Amino acid sequence: MLAIHATGRKSRIRPRFVHRSLEPARVTTSRSNFIAGVSAAATAVAVEGKPAFAAQTLASAATRNHRFFGSAVRVDQLDNEPDLRGVAVRECTYVVPEVEMNWNAIEPFYGQLAFEKVDALVDFAGSNHKLLRGHTLLWHLGTPGWAFEMLRERRDWALIERHFGSLIGRYGSVIEQWEVVNEPIDVGYRLDGLRETIFLEAFGPDYIARALTQARALAPRAQLLINEYGLEYDVAEERERRYLLLKLLERLRRANVPLDALGVQGHLDLRKGHVSQPAIGRFLEDVAGLGLAIVVTELDVKEADYVATAEQRDRLVADEVRRYLDVVLAHGAVAGVTTWGLSDRHSWLLVMPEDYARFPGAWKDGSGPGLNRGLPFDSSMRPKPMYDAIREAFSAARSRN
Ligand code: XIL
Repeated sequence: MLAIHATGRKSRIRPRFVHRSLEPARVTTSRSNFIAGVSAAATAVAVEGKPAFAAQTLASAATRNHRFFGSAVRVDQLDNEPDLRGVAVRECTYVVPEVEMNWNAIEPFYGQLAFEKVDALVDFAGSNHKLLRGHTLLWHLGTPGWAFEMLRERRDWALIERHFGSLIGRYGSVIEQWEVVNEPIDVGYRLDGLRETIFLEAFGPDYIARALTQARALAPRAQLLINEYGLEYDVAEERERRYLLLKLLERLRRANVPLDALGVQGHLDLRKGHVSQPAIGRFLEDVAGLGLAIVVTELDVKEADYVATAEQRDRLVADEVRRYLDVVLAHGAVAGVTTWGLSDRHSWLLVMPEDYARFPGAWKDGSGPGLNRGLPFDSSMRPKPMYDAIREAFSAARSRN
């Protein structure tokens, strides 16, 4: 269990490990920290009395491949749902706070810092040998209203420094990876492709380099990431986003800005057809060519066909995940995969009114499509074909080392 020194705002979490899990082809001393937990987990085989799992878990399949597997989790769900907690303990080498670390969750009102939930997640990670990714330091959609207004009024970098200082100050010693900027690219507006956020408005295009430099000063040993979505399909918007993101990464590298990895969110969408393996392959090659590691940070699948049987739907999801991971894990630069949740019952991907509208005449009997089935476990926490697809993709991929 991690000890948090109870000295109020100034409290610090004791250093636990120094780990460079993104570095290519290097086994680090702290690996043993979580390998112990992972192999213990790999022997667990039953859920609710059913021998539902093979002896190999996602964590152990990934670890054997010299990579990691993990998921976004919510602390209140981990606390209240023992089946979810069990799966997270067994299957994950990484956990990521789904919402609790966003600025608007950490500091909903100016000066009122709400650390309890992340503290609890740090405890969970510490007692279960999990690594932690900080999601996310700067995100336009995770910024509290008061910060928005202050940034607009004052354009004062001290606000950013203060925010980074409170998060990294408290968690810097236990967080392996920080997503420093989330979703900086927006297609169709500016030549440089930068999203017109409050950060751009307040500080200009340089805000990304400044944020990374600031993060490095506070967290000298952590891996620093930029995280982005919409990079998987061979459609004009995503071609453009890949191009603009690559240009941004090139500029940052050329200027020697501290940056270790690109996070590709990996929100797959069956409504868009199949992912483009050639486009993804080329893009990841280019990113790796800049000397950056790559992490799939938020894998899940939005479905298209809600009238098929559950078996057919699960098959379509799993096939797409396999198509995606096969090309992604072919790259030595890819350090690991985290899904955006474990069970369909917690997915942020909802079946929307427009999904119902695409199937007029369906569900006349009053039934419905149920939940979107785009995560590895169903709503009863039973592993689905997507689970096998991830495990098999790790097993089939050439090891990173
Ligand atoms: C989502 C959460 O899952 C939702 O619960 C929340 O309401 C909105 O944000 N990209 C990201 C994540 O980087 O933070 C988002 O998470 C999903 C898209």
